[in-house]
Amino acid sequence: MAEDETGRTLGRHERFRGEHPIVVEGLVNRFGEQTVHEDLDLKVKRGEILGVVGGSGTGKSVLMRSIIGLQPPTEGSVKVFGRSMTDSDPDEDIGVRSRWGVLFQGGALFSTLTVGENVQVPLKQFYPDISQKLLDEIACYKVVLSGLPPEAVHKYPSELSGGMKKRAGLARALALDPELLFLDEPTAGLDPIGASAFDQLTQELKRTLGLTVFLITHDLDTLHEICDRVAVLADKKVIAVDTVPNLMELDHEWIQEYFNGPRGRAALTAQALDELRQHMDRPMAAHAVKALDKTSSGKA
Ligand SMILES: Nc1ncnc2c1ncn2[C@@H]1O[C@H](COP(=O)(O)OP(=O)(O)OP(=O)(O)O)[C@@H](O)[C@H]1O
Ligand SMILES: [Mg+2]
Repeated sequence: MAEDETGRTLGRHERFRGEHPIVVEGLVNRFGEQTVHEDLDLKVKRGEILGVVGGSGTGKSVLMRSIIGLQPPTEGSVKVFGRSMTDSDPDEDIGVRSRWGVLFQGGALFSTLTVGENVQVPLKQFYPDISQKLLDEIACYKVVLSGLPPEAVHKYPSELSGGMKKRAGLARALALDPELLFLDEPTAGLDPIGASAFDQLTQELKRTLGLTVFLITHDLDTLHEICDRVAVLADKKVIAVDTVPNLMELDHEWIQEYFNGPRGRAALTAQALDELRQHMDRPMAAHAVKALDKTSSGKA
């Protein structure tokens, strides 16, 4: 079972009240000669959307897999809801594992199951005695909660667009009413409008369901729009965890190139425009929006 920060076992329906649902200390991951993580530390705060960024191959997905117990680390400690994921028996971790949902990179839906059946997989795993009628009802509710039409429950993954597949994956991740949601590149491959809609949905779910979200992304708009803090993976470690404006002040080559490069600046301009548009009744804001619109379309 999960524990609070004093080591007290949490009841099945009791939410984690500690400050950090995820605590990673001294994490080392090696694959043969290759060291992916070396002495990596990270604390995720309850109720935040933590963005996780880093170059391709820096070990973001491996970090996520280590946290959820799919990748036993070479060294170090990982605690989720106060419970050690590194030196406990996986069969005893059911109380912890039913408290999170995961959307894997690429979606990872079962192709031979309908969307509804996909959502029911974790439900059947953790609650084998639920009736089929209730399973169908919960699946339908989660599908709608994820922004899909109710009839999508009967569709197979091959019948869905990329954006719909992501939402179906999200519906499955939400199946068990998680407190913690892991999203690995949820907006990759979506058009900007689809990506932005997915971001809004993530933020809405965080607010309404009180989720903590571990969000791996390359999407600068996502980082600016919805992340409370961002962890930067580089040099085999988390080299900084902070808000985007604070990270932009740091003197690190990769961070500067990423956030202050042309794409980073475009994302910042887009966010500034969004914020200004909310005050179009004020002449100064309307004027600034016009000027910024011209600048950003000139750049494009
Ligand atoms: N099971 C494994 N066995 C061997 N090497 C692995 C394994 N899993 C990951 N790696 C290696 O670890 C490194 C980090 O992989 P990971 O998938 O975490 O990168 P990432 O940061 O998620 O990259 P991307 O942004 O492209 O998704 C890569 O070099 C990868 O080849
Ligand atoms: Mg990855």
